[in-house]
Amino acid sequence: FAFTPANLAWADAQITKYPEGRQASAIIPLLWRAQEQEGWLTRPAIEYVADKLGMAYIRALEVATFYFMFQLQPVGSVAHIQVCGTTSCMICGAEDLIGVCKEKIAEKPHQLSADGKFSWEEVECLGACANAPMAQIGKDYYEDLTAKSMAQIIDMLAKGDVPTPGSQNGRYAAEPR
Ligand code: FES
Repeated sequence: FAFTPANLAWADAQITKYPEGRQASAIIPLLWRAQEQEGWLTRPAIEYVADKLGMAYIRALEVATFYFMFQLQPVGSVAHIQVCGTTSCMICGAEDLIGVCKEKIAEKPHQLSADGKFSWEEVECLGACANAPMAQIGKDYYEDLTAKSMAQIIDMLAKGDVPTPGSQNGRYAAEPR
């Protein structure tokens, strides 16, 4: 693994934002850029970033394994769906959403769908508890989901459409009071 010239220039610019001797502080943006370049974080990519920042591989791996934003195995080419399974979402129907993912994508989390387009996993609270149950798809939040709206979102993505993020039950559509 190596950054593309454009990503390398971007990474070098990030590193200069930190004081001398603190280059390791750029670990999260560099891992994120490596993931965007490859689709997921391969071991060579993590090693490359660690070397670039003068860190031990294990320290970079600690960061990569701590955050749900980092994927350590291949993800669907169209979408990786992260369903929140923490308390609010669990009470409000996360299991139904996971059921749809199992039915439409794959039985197990992190397993690719047969066409390689989708993958899913259950994650911890994503901070949108008021709009439970919810899921993150790519960089967007889809909230106030039901099994039906979850299925519709996956169907739209499969057709190449981009479903509108945010609340899926119209809670923000009403006129302001
Ligand atoms: Fe699901 Fe917080 S419990 S977003």
